[in-house]
Amino acid sequence: MSPIGVFDSGYGGLTILREIRRLLPEYDFVYLGDNARAPYGNRSFDVVYNFTREAVKTLFDMGCPLVILACNTASAKALRTIQQHDLPLWDAERRVLGVIRPTAEVIGHLSQSRHVGVVATPGTILSESYRLEINKLYPDIVVNAHACPMWVPLVENSETESAGADYFVKKDIDALFAMDAMIDTVILGCTHYPLLLDKIRKYVPQGTTIIPQGEYVATSLCGYLHRHPEMDSRLTKSGECHYFTTEHSDKFGKTARMFLDEDIQVEHLSSLGNKP
Ligand code: DGL
Repeated sequence: MSPIGVFDSGYGGLTILREIRRLLPEYDFVYLGDNARAPYGNRSFDVVYNFTREAVKTLFDMGCPLVILACNTASAKALRTIQQHDLPLWDAERRVLGVIRPTAEVIGHLSQSRHVGVVATPGTILSESYRLEINKLYPDIVVNAHACPMWVPLVENSETESAGADYFVKKDIDALFAMDAMIDTVILGCTHYPLLLDKIRKYVPQGTTIIPQGEYVATSLCGYLHRHPEMDSRLTKSGECHYFTTEHSDKFGKTARMFLDEDIQVEHLSSLGNKP
């Protein structure tokens, strides 16, 4: 098998995997969640880089020619260094892609007011990746970003329906719109956040467009494979998907149901960076 690897710190990348599999059902996939070390969002650049590097190496060792970092924090803090420093040393024929660029690309067509809000982990916000990517493509867009450090723990702990989720989502959405009341489009710059979509909808001003990334990342991947037939021909296509987590496989399987609406088999990996 030469599957496409999909990596996230935990469950969030499943929101991306689901959309990718909808568009590319015939491809094979391996999903890896580093739940034992999630969340990544409050960690330093070096830590996120080292963890992500180990995960990519693990997916390469499993035979993936292509890995998607389905995690904004990893895309913001580790993607460039892995692409520029590690790939040439490991195997220049393999590829690692992230989720920030494909999301930034669509924004220019979606915002009327040209005021865009970004909610994400503290790591992604501090990196300024969204502002930089969006303004590279659309210099006229005003980007205001707000870090939501409690949202990933709410998702990882299955608290998305709780009163606590209402409290924190309202607090953070209010803070974002207090920065800029002209925002008409909000990017969910963390792959966990689509699980809080109902709560987010409840607290944004009416008419606000909310952007979960999955479908844009999936469309962008289709375009990439179309432009790169040399990569496409290396990927196997028997429609299989295997799931790995660094935490308890049973818990992962149960929680993944919320994201995927299907039962899955999950294998445990005791550490990353080595062959399983
Ligand atoms: N899902 C990840 C993201 O898109 C981050 C979650 C975390 O903090 O680990 O940023």
